[in-house]
Amino acid sequence: MSKQVPVVKYNTSYPSIEDLRNKARRKIPKFAFEYLDGGCNEDVNLYKNTAEIREVELAPYYLSKHKGSSLQTELFGHVYDAPFGIAPVGLQGLIWPNSPQILAKAAKDHNIPFILSTVTTADIETISQITEGRAWYQLYHPAEDAVRDDILKRLEAAQYPVLVLLSDVPSFGFRPRDIRNGLAMPPRMTLKNILQIMTRPEWALKTLKYGTPNFATLKPYMPKGLNMKQLGLFMNRTFAGRLNADKIAPIRDKWKGKIVVKGIATEADTEMCMKLGVDGIIVSNHGGRQLDAGQSAIKSMHPIIDRYKGKIKIMMDSGLRSGPDVARVMASGADFTFMGRSFMYSVAALGDEGGNHVIAMLKTQLQQVMEQVCCEQIYDLPKHIIK
Ligand SMILES: Cc1cc2nc3c(=O)[nH]c(=O)nc-3n(C[C@H](O)[C@H](O)[C@H](O)COP(=O)(O)O)c2cc1C
Repeated sequence: MSKQVPVVKYNTSYPSIEDLRNKARRKIPKFAFEYLDGGCNEDVNLYKNTAEIREVELAPYYLSKHKGSSLQTELFGHVYDAPFGIAPVGLQGLIWPNSPQILAKAAKDHNIPFILSTVTTADIETISQITEGRAWYQLYHPAEDAVRDDILKRLEAAQYPVLVLLSDVPSFGFRPRDIRNGLAMPPRMTLKNILQIMTRPEWALKTLKYGTPNFATLKPYMPKGLNMKQLGLFMNRTFAGRLNADKIAPIRDKWKGKIVVKGIATEADTEMCMKLGVDGIIVSNHGGRQLDAGQSAIKSMHPIIDRYKGKIKIMMDSGLRSGPDVARVMASGADFTFMGRSFMYSVAALGDEGGNHVIAMLKTQLQQVMEQVCCEQIYDLPKHIIK
């Protein structure tokens, strides 16, 4: 693989995800920030995710021969320019207007994967065009087979190479902030929410420019003219489905591209994925938004790596907030990583500039770690882990 030149064009006023998070808090209405930022219940798993990644330590081999480090990582037949991608996030346009388009463009420019959520505010066809057919798609399994088949047909026509099936939302997460804020789609215009919007004029003007966010991909399946309550009922009816072997098997038969199951946390579910012919898993706990009593993602990944490394692609998300975090997770044996909030904080903070900024910054941080520990290839990071 050729060595790549590190991209260093990031905004030096915001050199960390925490800087971007703080700026985002000041730029967008409170209900939107809390939707993005929060976990579930008492946020125990949200904090454990990052804290336990940071227990991983790397050894630097300063006296070894070193010709330079490359971030390039091969996955499913494509060589990406970094071992991280953009995880699917629902309702992105509510957090920052046009944000899925901004992030998809930045992902394409930086040659990293962007995963489009079923329930976000940009549609399959628009994102395929922006990424020139390189985006992945995350499917919330629809209750009706006809909706599933139509989505698969659209994905095939738009040349999506990878289909991601979500497994970790058999029930809606219990998220106290969203409950308090009455979060709904479109946002409920309570006096409290209107006051929050009035203090965030740039967000309000951009929302006027791009229009009220809606579930763009799902429009063809929605009856027209639903009020808010009817929309909620429609979403519950259409997507209240647990993923299981009976739902994965027919998709495996129909879908010619790669299949990844996201939300895996146990060896038993990994075994099931292997049996069903799934190509990869994303070990994830949805960024601590579903099961507060669960393990951190990195902790649940360790036994899966021990038993299944090399047999199925093992990716991980939940808790990564920096280049060193990506290095820690890759050193722990992951084949690839994803982040959700980190990218959204940046777009909420910096708007159009936010996509390029955060990717360039994370690449620069990761490049520095690679040079520092004297590691030439991403695949060699596990040699640096201190057990
Ligand atoms: C606001 C928000 C919305 C999300 N919506 C989805 C979604 O629609 N589909 C999905 O598969 N995961 C969704 N996730 C989970 C992310 O894909 C990812 O697993 C998680 O953000 C990773 O944790 P991190 O934010 O700590 O990086 C969402 C996460 C956040 C923060």
